[in-house]
Amino acid sequence: MQNIKHIAIIMDGNGRWAKKKGLPRIEGHKKGVDAIKKVVRAADDFGIKYLTLYSFSTENWKRPKKEVEFLFRLMESSLKKEAQDLHKNNVRVLFAGRINEIPLFLQKTIEEIKKLTCKNTGLNLIFAINYGGRQEIIDALNKAMEKYKNKKIDINMINKFLYIPDIPEPDIVVRTSGEQRMSNFLTWQAIYSELYFTDKFWPDFGRSDLKKICDEYKRRKRRFGGL
Ligand code: FPP
Repeated sequence: MQNIKHIAIIMDGNGRWAKKKGLPRIEGHKKGVDAIKKVVRAADDFGIKYLTLYSFSTENWKRPKKEVEFLFRLMESSLKKEAQDLHKNNVRVLFAGRINEIPLFLQKTIEEIKKLTCKNTGLNLIFAINYGGRQEIIDALNKAMEKYKNKKIDINMINKFLYIPDIPEPDIVVRTSGEQRMSNFLTWQAIYSELYFTDKFWPDFGRSDLKKICDEYKRRKRRFGGL
């Protein structure tokens, strides 16, 4: 019997959700934000301490410029809109990724919500933006080598320089939309994470799906390479 401390989600299928309904892809992303709100509330209610959401990968720059711009503007407006409510609910909002490479307007919003919520002690809500698992390892390794100069680098030295150090590794990684791959997500941290795949598109994902995953997790036996 175990409870999830950290759940990480690859929110996939916004585009296909929209297509199925004959709508433009951006409508799927808008509905995706509604799903995020539901899942944040539910995660908090279920006592989960860390929720990481893959929001924009280092590979997503390959998408049409218009869609990329729309996504960054949607993140900006959603974060601004939800900031006070998240703060009132004691949520600490954090970000993982190469944030210094995204548009300045979004960097500014990110700084504001981080500062507003930094002392909160409830749910830790982590948005992975311009995030790549390999890039995170490279970034951490470079910083570790700078600090430890001629020393041999070990696991703890890398851990210290991850985008968000000192948080538990994900207990379970979830991917929606029927795809079954990791796509450069939490490459360092997810080596022993449980995996869970659902055919639902992200905009259709909600509280009952999260509940199902919590129940399923309780049934999993984790051995971390031991017996
Ligand atoms: C995956 O669907 C969705 C994304 C890559 C974007 C998710 C981002 C948001 C919903 C906005 C996040 C908001 C904040 C506040 C950070 P897809 O476009 O890959 O769908 P497809 O595979 O069906 O094409």
